[in-house]
Amino acid sequence: MVGDELSGGETQRRAAALLPALAARDDGGVTDLGSAHVLVLGATGGLGGPIARRLAAAGARLTISSRDAARLEAIAAELGSAVVTTVTADLTRPDGPASVVRAATDGAPLTGVVNAAGVVAFGAVENLDDDTLDEVLLLDLVAPVRLARAAIGVLPEGGFLVQVSAVVAEKAMPGMAAYSAAKAGLTAFDAALASELRRRRIRVLDVRPPHTETGLATRPVAGEAPRLPQGLSPDAVAERIVRALADDERDLPSTAFTATPPTPS
Ligand SMILES: NC(=O)c1ccc[n+]([C@@H]2O[C@H](COP(=O)([O-])OP(=O)(O)OC[C@H]3O[C@@H](n4cnc5c(N)ncnc54)[C@H](OP(=O)(O)O)[C@@H]3O)[C@@H](O)[C@H]2O)c1
Repeated sequence: MVGDELSGGETQRRAAALLPALAARDDGGVTDLGSAHVLVLGATGGLGGPIARRLAAAGARLTISSRDAARLEAIAAELGSAVVTTVTADLTRPDGPASVVRAATDGAPLTGVVNAAGVVAFGAVENLDDDTLDEVLLLDLVAPVRLARAAIGVLPEGGFLVQVSAVVAEKAMPGMAAYSAAKAGLTAFDAALASELRRRRIRVLDVRPPHTETGLATRPVAGEAPRLPQGLSPDAVAERIVRALADDERDLPSTAFTATPPTPS
């Protein structure tokens, strides 16, 4: 054994070098994003983009994914060597989520997954057509379940899965019934999965941001957004999510985005 001939510190350093995918200490300590390889889905989005930029700034290597190859390449050009690879996929397709995980792990072992892909639809339930219902439920609920199923097979101890749910999981909104149901279902799924994975020390972080100015509400798959109050800044929401990741937080309810941070004593 190599370790027999080395000091404890040297053994640990070499073990760490042999396990580049393991970015978190197994004692509940702080996640080192600097040695992480993170798959970001929805990386071309108003939230996924700033999350990817902040992860890259923290030193993480990234695989970025969405349906749009040209926009992914533009982000890859901007982030340079931080991007290991780009993967185009439609997550509503049955094999979409698993194919993205496979392509990401082909690039390098994965430490974590951040799912920021999603769509919204507006309108009364009687106007909700089948295509809209399918797209919202497939992308906002079924795809994250399939993604989790694929990811837990490859994530190491200390790994993480971040699912961007929404404030409507906590308080369903009229005119957004399918979206609210999908997000409430996702948050319930994440809670059960977090318990299932605790012993394996894979962290599931369910994130429920309030309305954020990403433009999502201006491109619904159906209907028209009601008048909405000014939303949060996408960059501030991304900063909060990446901070929660680095600090090993286990839940990000809507209040985490609006509460005033405690004044240091
Ligand atoms: N903005 C808000 O107010 C708000 C609040 C709470 C929660 N959220 C949640 O945050 C997440 C990100 O939303 P956002 O505001 O960043 O929206 P966005 O700017 O419209 O981004 C959505 C992302 O999802 C991707 N996407 C859409 N359909 C896809 C499909 N079929 N397959 C693969 N990728 C697909 C888009 O990529 P391509 O089009 O390039 O494929 C894009 O990267 C969503 O889950 C949303 O529900 C948003």
